Amino acid sequence: MRKFLTVVLLCMMHGALCMATEVKSPNGNVKLNFSVDAFGRPTYSMTYKGKAVVLPSHLGLELAKDKHASKGLKETDLITGFTVKEEATSEKDETWTPVWGETKTIRNHYVEYVAVLQQQTEQREMIIRFRVYDEGIGLRYEFPQQKELNYFLIKEEHTEFAMTGDHTAWWLPGDYDTQEQETQQTKLSEIRGRMKDAVNWGNSSVAVFSPTGVQTALQMKSQDGLYINIHEAACTDYATMHLELVDAQTKALTTKLDGSSNIYTPNPTGCVAALPQPFTFVSHLTPDATGLKGAMQTPCQTPWRTVMVSDDARDMLSSNLILNLNEPCALDDVSWIHPTKYCGVWWEMIVGKSNWHYTDDFPSIKLDQIDWTKVKPHGRHAANNEKVKRYIDFAAKNGLDEVLVEGWNVGWEDWVNMWKRDVFDFVTPYPDFDIKMLNDYAHSKGVKLLMHHETSSSTQNYERHMEKAFQLMNKYGYDAVKTGYVGDIIPRGDHHYSQSMNNHYLYVVKEAAKHHIMVNAHEATRPTGLCRTYPNLVGNESARGTEYEAFGGSRPDHTCILPFTRLQGGPMDYTPGIFVTKLKEWSDNTSWARITIAGSLALYLTMYSPLQMAADLPEHYERFDDAFQFIRDVACDWDDSKYLEAEPADYITVARKAKGTDNWFVGGKCDENGHTAVVKLDFLDKGRQYDCTIYADAPNAHYETNPQAYTITKKTVKAGQTLKIKEAPGGGFAISLMAK
Ligand code: NOJ
Ligand code: CA
Repeated sequence: MRKFLTVVLLCMMHGALCMATEVKSPNGNVKLNFSVDAFGRPTYSMTYKGKAVVLPSHLGLELAKDKHASKGLKETDLITGFTVKEEATSEKDETWTPVWGETKTIRNHYVEYVAVLQQQTEQREMIIRFRVYDEGIGLRYEFPQQKELNYFLIKEEHTEFAMTGDHTAWWLPGDYDTQEQETQQTKLSEIRGRMKDAVNWGNSSVAVFSPTGVQTALQMKSQDGLYINIHEAACTDYATMHLELVDAQTKALTTKLDGSSNIYTPNPTGCVAALPQPFTFVSHLTPDATGLKGAMQTPCQTPWRTVMVSDDARDMLSSNLILNLNEPCALDDVSWIHPTKYCGVWWEMIVGKSNWHYTDDFPSIKLDQIDWTKVKPHGRHAANNEKVKRYIDFAAKNGLDEVLVEGWNVGWEDWVNMWKRDVFDFVTPYPDFDIKMLNDYAHSKGVKLLMHHETSSSTQNYERHMEKAFQLMNKYGYDAVKTGYVGDIIPRGDHHYSQSMNNHYLYVVKEAAKHHIMVNAHEATRPTGLCRTYPNLVGNESARGTEYEAFGGSRPDHTCILPFTRLQGGPMDYTPGIFVTKLKEWSDNTSWARITIAGSLALYLTMYSPLQMAADLPEHYERFDDAFQFIRDVACDWDDSKYLEAEPADYITVARKAKGTDNWFVGGKCDENGHTAVVKLDFLDKGRQYDCTIYADAPNAHYETNPQAYTITKKTVKAGQTLKIKEAPGGGFAISLMAK
């Protein structure tokens, strides 16, 4: 009560500063309102073309008192008792050139509003910085260096996003360890009822935390036709954010799914009697092994919290808001970073036809106690000289840049979920993988091998061996590594998306850069645009990739959602290109990929990435060589991109201009209902003719009953023409347009 009165008095004294401030985006479509309420709570709201997007929502953090970071910390509340000490508005309009990307240049145009807030009783300062774009906002907390706020621990961040109604949402269960689930499409009010079924309980590491917790990037659509997306940008030295929905049934304290403990205190300071209004999301950070959510030292800041909005779904895909909120490139020399098309000794292992490991002789292995030249091979080890050479030959013949080889190094015999610290050394090949010979052979054919470091989530082990592992890569001429974090994190108790793990992933990227190595991290935290700052981070998995087509399959609309959600923060190593979708045709695996061949080709356009795999077996591509021509031709770096059609979970059609050329490629992907794409060729150069090759679903194609039925049509086209292309259920199309 004393604090409340102080705040009200302060507000009366500084009446003008308690007024709401309105900030307009450059074209005025987005408006932000900021104020400090009667309890001294920073509060914001947001509109788009006059329609409410975020209703008044509070901002703040709750700190923890702890022997390590309580020095000088009198009060744990960074939520109430604030007054505005200073405020400033400015505008910035710049254009920058990404090292690789969907367009040659990116415009970064925003109005910035900064509020310097003061908790007078505690003598602390916190800055909230907003950037208001024509397609959304970013906001973050900043903590200047100061006597009364020096080291501090975060118990929880309480950033609210109050939605205006019961929107349709495309969501994944909030989970501290995995994003490898299928997206749920429900109303916000239905999240709670769907949660248990939505969890991928079979994943190698699962930590769901709430009946209404979801992941970002969260895509929504309001009843009045607004597309709204909540995510974060530039997540460094901070835990990954989830969103907790305060729905009609949320009690003051809810419990975990297993009923064990409290997870959400909507009323942390006792100053507001009521819950936030219905359909409010509140930030929920990933804890580390201590249960705390962040250890901070001022000066420091949180990642940006982002809300994107438009009345046109295509704007959700073309927006660069997340990249723009990241820092410019931190690397001086980027000449060694290049877009990469690759194949790999991989799919046959995922499908179960061959293995990563070499021998069945031991119940478990200790790396320093085995003479690998003496062990008996089981005969199904895929990463052998003969097979790798076959893949190198295939890559060389078809213009693929690199060949990924998994299972080349010792340790795969007992690699997963044993909580085994010394699991790999990342430098010792199995006896049938001649690392020198194979790299020499690849280089002689203009191909590189792509390194694989599965860490089994044993992060200390990886950090201990990493320098030598990167030196080995430099010695043999590898310039890219696929890393992996399967299983629960070691040190035990930590989570994949905690502050400490996020620091680990970035440490790997920075160390790799010193060795001129590009990184593609699987099972790491979801990207937040850090590839702008560290463009050697060329890929991430961080979602349910093609491997799940061998683990029971994913719905046909899966790839029509990912660009709206997972891809907002950066490219995904989705590993597309499965031509023989019924796996039992060539293995004992009864799973099947829910896609047609033409649909598989479309993914090289609709799932933007500078790293693209041709994931199927060489012999499968040889069977359908005329369709494989598209994978040979398609670029993976672009001067321009135009999203022509889009609706979440239904269809996406995009045209892209290949970097440094006048050639365009168009891809369209649809869900299980099929779609007729209308492609207006008005992006082509006027007066110029193009050789057009259309790879389309045959009229009777269907992802389940007839996935391999496609047609290839060639014609000459020019700007102004329109192509109408029918996409089969679960299908799609791909077009190459080569300038004459
Ligand atoms: C999971 C990855 O997503 C997959 O691509 C890889 O082959 C396995 N882990 C083994 O590292
Ligand atoms: Ca995975």
